[in-house]
Amino acid sequence: MSVTKLNNIGQMVSFNSKLGEMESLNNIEILIKDDKIEDIGSNLSDADINIDCNKMLITPGFVDPHTHPVFYKSRGQEFIMRLSGMTYEEIAKNGGGIISSVSGLRNATENQLIKCVKNRMDRFLSLGTTTVECKSGYGLDVASEIKSLKVIHEVNKLHSIDMVPTFMGGHAIPNEYSDNRDAYVDIICNEMIPEVAKQGIAVFNDVFCEKGYFNVQQSQKILNAGINHGLQPRLHADEFEDSGASVLAGEIGSITADHLMEISEDGISSLSKNDVIATLLPGTTFFLGKTKYAPYSKLKEAGIDIALATDYNPGSCNIQSMPFIISLACIYMKMDILDALKASTYTAACSLLLQDTIGSIECGKKADIIIWNIEKIEEIPYLVLNQPIQNILKNGKPIFSA
Ligand code: NIG
Ligand code: FE
Repeated sequence: MSVTKLNNIGQMVSFNSKLGEMESLNNIEILIKDDKIEDIGSNLSDADINIDCNKMLITPGFVDPHTHPVFYKSRGQEFIMRLSGMTYEEIAKNGGGIISSVSGLRNATENQLIKCVKNRMDRFLSLGTTTVECKSGYGLDVASEIKSLKVIHEVNKLHSIDMVPTFMGGHAIPNEYSDNRDAYVDIICNEMIPEVAKQGIAVFNDVFCEKGYFNVQQSQKILNAGINHGLQPRLHADEFEDSGASVLAGEIGSITADHLMEISEDGISSLSKNDVIATLLPGTTFFLGKTKYAPYSKLKEAGIDIALATDYNPGSCNIQSMPFIISLACIYMKMDILDALKASTYTAACSLLLQDTIGSIECGKKADIIIWNIEKIEEIPYLVLNQPIQNILKNGKPIFSA
């Protein structure tokens, strides 16, 4: 057994499950046994390894609950097209968008994809993300969706970051079904989902419920098929227009509804009544050069729990940094800083159904901890991209050598 102690902590900011709120503790120590937090307090027993936090801030590692990291090629050309005035939706209609990532993914070998995804996970971890939800969704046929989920499974075994797999055959309609969209929905429900469930390689099932992708009826069918096979529902909802997706998220008992820039009043009351977490992705609005962010204050007033995520993907948001997402949330959505930290740790863990093991610094939880080079949490959004991280403990082990 290895015992590690974090000494000389200036301030620890974390959700406290007993209090049901965020808490700050000053001048404390943390004792870690193997990969778990054993004790928090002062004058704790001796350890084999001592890490000096230099009186700085510590927080839980970030949990990023919405990413699309299994793709092969960059889509930098779309970035240039947007600079000439085209929107994401126009680019997608003209052969770009999700569909343009499909042939690259289908033609890539599992090993090629493992290499790409592993590099992306290195970067996530170096930015303080210790758990990341990872969606498939650029394969869009049975073999390629399974291949994508296998890649997540393999990288998860190799890498110390924790990856939570989501099946997203419902990301877009592949070209071969563009004239028979319901037939593709049937393939998702009757072939992909049963195979994914049989192989046990996904926890969640997500659908892009949006005009031009999957309508409310199709999304409902796909999410119900997942539920019947033990896959938990989550939903891309009301990103470009209000399609009724958030109402569906409430009705079906989705764990989260994500994006929500165009959510309606009915959508807000549906999420609120049914305890659906709202996962906000301000990086997407920013990266697409748009100005409309999700209505954080309204969602908060309605009593909805809010998570933050990057939405990292090759098209609409090439951002992996949760500290930067916190900056965007504070600057553009006027999010309270403590709320932003809760949203990117504890509530993000709730949205992955992992709040009992990660998302806060509490006894018995995994020792996934960021040791910052700053003293106060407001410096996380204030320093924007300066990455003031001293070290990151993943499963109790420092990832940077001292
Ligand atoms: O969350 N909205 C759907 N999926 C991504 C876009 C993925 C892509 O463009 O490749 C998103 O924004
Ligand atoms: Fe997404």
